[in-house]
Amino acid sequence: MYEKLATAAKHIQEVKPCSPKVGIILGSGLGAFVEKIENPTIISYDDIPFFHKTTVEGHKGRLILGEVDGVEVAILQGRFHCYEGLPMDDVVFPTRLLSTLGVEILVLTNAAGGINKNFKSGDLVSIEDHINLMAKNPLIGPNIAEMGPRFPDMTKAYNPKLREIIKGCASEHGYDMKSGIYAGVLGPTYETPAEVRMLGIVGADMVGMSTVPECIAANHIGMKVCGISCITNMAAGIENVELKHEHIKDEALKVMDTFSNILLSSVKKFKNV
Ligand code: HPA
Repeated sequence: MYEKLATAAKHIQEVKPCSPKVGIILGSGLGAFVEKIENPTIISYDDIPFFHKTTVEGHKGRLILGEVDGVEVAILQGRFHCYEGLPMDDVVFPTRLLSTLGVEILVLTNAAGGINKNFKSGDLVSIEDHINLMAKNPLIGPNIAEMGPRFPDMTKAYNPKLREIIKGCASEHGYDMKSGIYAGVLGPTYETPAEVRMLGIVGADMVGMSTVPECIAANHIGMKVCGISCITNMAAGIENVELKHEHIKDEALKVMDTFSNILLSSVKKFKNV
C-alpha cells in the first residue's frame, strides 16, 4: 500500500509539482465546484497509477490541483463506493493519496437522504458525526503503523474547529446551516421506509452510501476532517415520492452556488488552522 501511494504521488508531482493543504472530495452532483478553482491542473483518474475508473454517473473521475485565494487545494471529482464491488483499500486509496501529497485538512461532501423532519431537499448540512452501518471498515487487516494507530480515536472524527468555520462562513453568506449525524450504509439500493424509521431511532439525521470509509481512513492517517451533506431528497417513506439518481443530481445542482460560496470561504479560513 505504502509503495503504491508513493508511486501515485510521484506521478502527480511529475505532472504538477504541488503541496496542497486542503483536500476536497466532491459528491454526486457537486462536481461543478471545480469551476471555481484558480490555476487548475486536471489529471484524469485513468492516468493515476492504482486508481480505479469511476463507474457512477454524475461522478467524473478527475483530480484537480489548484488554488483558492492562495490556498493550495487538491480536489477529487468523483469517488469510489463499496457498492461498486471494490475492496475498501481501493475505496480509500484517493483519500490516502491526498495525505501523501501533503493534505492536512479534508472536506468530505456528499448527497444524502434527509431523515430529520426539520430538513428539506436542498438543505446543506454540516456533518457532526457518523454512524457506520456498512458492516465494513477500511482499517480491517494488518495495521500499517507508519500510517496510523491500530485503534484510532474517533471522538472528534469531524473536527469541531473546522465545523465552526464552516457554520460561520455559511452565516456570513446569510445561510443558517444545520448540523446532523450521517448514517453510512452500503447501498446500492436506497433504504426501505422501515430502514429509514430505524435509522431515525438510532440517531441518524441523514443517510448516504459514502463518506464513512474516507472519514475513517483520513482520521487514521492524521488528517483533520469535516463534511457537508447536500440533502437531495427526503429518505424513503418520509415523503410519498420515488427516489431516482437523476433527481438527486438535479437537486444538488440547484444549491451549487450556495455550496460553492460557503466552501470557498471556508477553504480560505482553513489557511490558518
Ligand atoms: N439514501 C442513500 N443515499 C442517498 C440518498 C438516500 O436517500 N440520497 C442521496 N444519497
